[in-house]
Amino acid sequence: MRNCVLLVGLALFVFAARAGTVASIASPNSVLRVELDLHEGRLAYQVSRLGEPVVNASRLGFALRGSEKLERNLELTSSSTRSFDETWEQPWGERRFVRNHYNELRARFTETLKGKRAIDVVFRVYDDGLGFRYEFPDQPQLRDVVIDDELTEFDIAAPATAWWIPAGEWNRYEYLYGKTALGEVTQAHTPLTLKTDQGLYIALHEAALVDYAGMWLRRVEGQRLRAQLSPASEGWKVRRQAPFPTPWRTLQIADTAGGLVESNLILNLNEPNALGDVSWFKPSKYVGVWWSLHLDQESWATGKKHGATSANTRRYIDFAAEHGFRGVLVEGWNPGWDGDWFGNGWNFDFTRATADFDIEGLSAYAQGKGVHLIGHHETGCAVSHYQRQLAAALDLYARLGIDSVKTGYVCDAGQIERQDHAGGPVIREWHDGQWMARHHLEVVKEASKRQVAVNSHEPIKDTGLRRTYPNWVSREGARGMEYGAWGNPTNPPEHEANLVFTRMLSGPMDFTPGILSLQGRGQPIQSTLAKQLALYVVLYSPIQMAADLPENYRKHLDAFEFIKAVPVDWAETRVLNGEIGDFVTIVRKDRNGEGWYLGSVTDQHGRVLNVPLSFLDPGRRYLAQVYRDGDGAHWNTAPFEFARESREVTSAETMTLRLAAGGGQAIRFVPVGSKR
Ligand code: NOJ
Ligand code: CA
Repeated sequence: MRNCVLLVGLALFVFAARAGTVASIASPNSVLRVELDLHEGRLAYQVSRLGEPVVNASRLGFALRGSEKLERNLELTSSSTRSFDETWEQPWGERRFVRNHYNELRARFTETLKGKRAIDVVFRVYDDGLGFRYEFPDQPQLRDVVIDDELTEFDIAAPATAWWIPAGEWNRYEYLYGKTALGEVTQAHTPLTLKTDQGLYIALHEAALVDYAGMWLRRVEGQRLRAQLSPASEGWKVRRQAPFPTPWRTLQIADTAGGLVESNLILNLNEPNALGDVSWFKPSKYVGVWWSLHLDQESWATGKKHGATSANTRRYIDFAAEHGFRGVLVEGWNPGWDGDWFGNGWNFDFTRATADFDIEGLSAYAQGKGVHLIGHHETGCAVSHYQRQLAAALDLYARLGIDSVKTGYVCDAGQIERQDHAGGPVIREWHDGQWMARHHLEVVKEASKRQVAVNSHEPIKDTGLRRTYPNWVSREGARGMEYGAWGNPTNPPEHEANLVFTRMLSGPMDFTPGILSLQGRGQPIQSTLAKQLALYVVLYSPIQMAADLPENYRKHLDAFEFIKAVPVDWAETRVLNGEIGDFVTIVRKDRNGEGWYLGSVTDQHGRVLNVPLSFLDPGRRYLAQVYRDGDGAHWNTAPFEFARESREVTSAETMTLRLAAGGGQAIRFVPVGSKR
């Protein structure tokens, strides 16, 4: 930890001028300000930025089972403030050092009538956003807390446009992002990203979703959104014993779209690393028996097309060793895939391999070549069945040196199968309800005991828990590259420029880029070749797949060079330009070297972007290895038009990036004189 300064101050009752305001707090440089109001005993908060309202007075409170709503007849019974400023180090991430600098207001509200229940609200206010949460204190009159509804609201002050995907619908998070007026949002997942008509960017999300239901946002009227907690089979949304805190409700607020991406708010609101030394997790790239399955050239099921055979896996291990990839993912290695696997996850066996897959021999073969098999636990949503095998399944991997696992929860939203005891009734849960929030952490903790990293597909959304559990390294939780194989509709050219400013605000994504063949199952990938390379920089994850088939990489060895070279762990990250759904340019500095890497992607429109290189070290010369769209490139008509060129640059220069329609550009900046 660097520059650790902890200032604790206590101040009772920070009265502000406005009538009804009982407490307030400003961010360290007074950019943001939060006020808490009581009007006839009802509690509300409001947020302003540089004096302008961002969130109008918005309600706080709960509907609790078996008692009156906890939101009326309240009075402020205590409050305190403190300042906090420290810089902490990530074991891996988009940047090495993260500054956590906020002012905190903690206020207790107690009912004036009857039960006299109390609830604490805690606001942490940063210059680029804020988080607030409730804490249910230890009190005899409210021990067993059964939450029917959280009543938190967000009444966005200025007219705004929203980028969003629906919540509570048939799918989990795998939708194309819609762009509508905020006033047309129905019920959305978070992060929900907004741009006001005045040009302010706001993202609503949550941090530290632990033992609680995920928060959807339902529009009540106008631009007023209300928390809608993901349901639970019991009928309530959350059940906990006090004392406990809720997750943080977060607002990132910036005057550029890139400011949202550069914010560390979500991580900062999570608890520090609970696992100690996690250097056993190696950020790295991987290949695998995967794209062939989505192309339907091979199958998860056993038989003639089976992908997970020993011979085929050895081919991938050899390819990984030859080109410097640490990991080889193999899907379909275990019994349970035959027939309708997503209809029957109860057949999955996670401790045995199919007869044609020599798991012991293959893991030894891989290790002999410095390669690690990556495990795969597709549950088909029979989650209780998986939980019963979890310890043994992870023990097997640990014994074989398989130090990361991809998990999967393929079924419709709300169709997770829970069975509290073997033979008992099967009840249905949501992917982001309290029960699954608990499940995911159980998997992550069990895996961490065995030094295994977890990459969850069809996951619960990311709320920054990688800070606390750094072995939860990546996840899906949006439309990944697989939709390029079979999606109907497929991912359009604007998709990744949407993801950066929406889904990616929550954390790393296992998008699985790098399809240099640009070909799905009978449909083209709507991208140029250069854009596939740019995605490795643009879409952050500490594990990145080179998802295409080895034979396709052999056809594009020049472009493949970038995929081989690009790091997955960064000392620093900056967003040089971007607009939501249109384009974005991101630069990142290698955490284990002196090089910088640039990725730039655009939507269906070609663009010329001027990029100052002032992020480079001043006075140093760099060789810029450029991987760009060729002249005349276009995702639809000429996707393979591609050029590779090098020239020396310094931080004083500005580079002009020409991106084709649906295109992109990747650049590697290597200091002159250093090894490459
Ligand atoms: C969906 C995942 O996103 C994909 O990567 C995986 O191949 C299939 N499920 C099968 O588990
Ligand atoms: Ca998926």
